[in-house]
Amino acid sequence: MARPSVTIRQYQTHDAPSVARIWDSSFGAGTEHNAAPLAISKKVEQADGLFFVAELDGAVIGTIMAGYDGHRGWIYCLAVGADMRRQGIGKRLIAAAEAELVKRGCLKVNLQVRNGPGNASDFYRNCGYSVEDRISFGKKLY
Ligand SMILES: CC(C)(COP(=O)(O)OP(=O)(O)OC[C@H]1O[C@@H](n2cnc3c(N)ncnc32)[C@H](O)[C@@H]1OP(=O)(O)O)[C@@H](O)C(=O)NCCC(=O)NCCS
Repeated sequence: MARPSVTIRQYQTHDAPSVARIWDSSFGAGTEHNAAPLAISKKVEQADGLFFVAELDGAVIGTIMAGYDGHRGWIYCLAVGADMRRQGIGKRLIAAAEAELVKRGCLKVNLQVRNGPGNASDFYRNCGYSVEDRISFGKKLY
């Protein structure tokens, strides 16, 4: 199928409602700290250039966040609008985030996938990621 002419660019303030819509429809109700308005504003405060959107004809159709702490890179909150999936957009968002991490000297990137039916594991395998023998821990700090 012909790929739509999609641009990957840095997130801008006016993208917030579109990003929130895509998150809400892709991830459903999450924990408090994952709520779009809070998570977006906290990421924007970082001003680290690691928040991207995919745009088609002026509309935001996908989004991804990454992080780099000098040791590891992380990828978070990747989502493509349901009607735009399986056209290579997720893969391009990953590539954009990885390229920015590489520019910063990042040598290794990690990500977490929520377990359950229809999870994104096969997508990430297709992007070159593999499951590592780790146990994922987390702790709320609020
Ligand atoms: C995961 C997600 C971002 C993939 O985006 P996408 O734009 O559809 O992915 P791409 O078209 O770039 O897929 C590239 C390849 O990955 C694989 N792939 C993608 N989605 C897949 C799925 N649901 N099941 C199996 N393989 C999949 C395919 O091999 C695909 O190549 P193909 O189109 O030639 O078959 C999208 O399905 C999504 O937003 N899901 C809901 C949110 C989510 O789960 N995000 C990840 C959080 S960890």
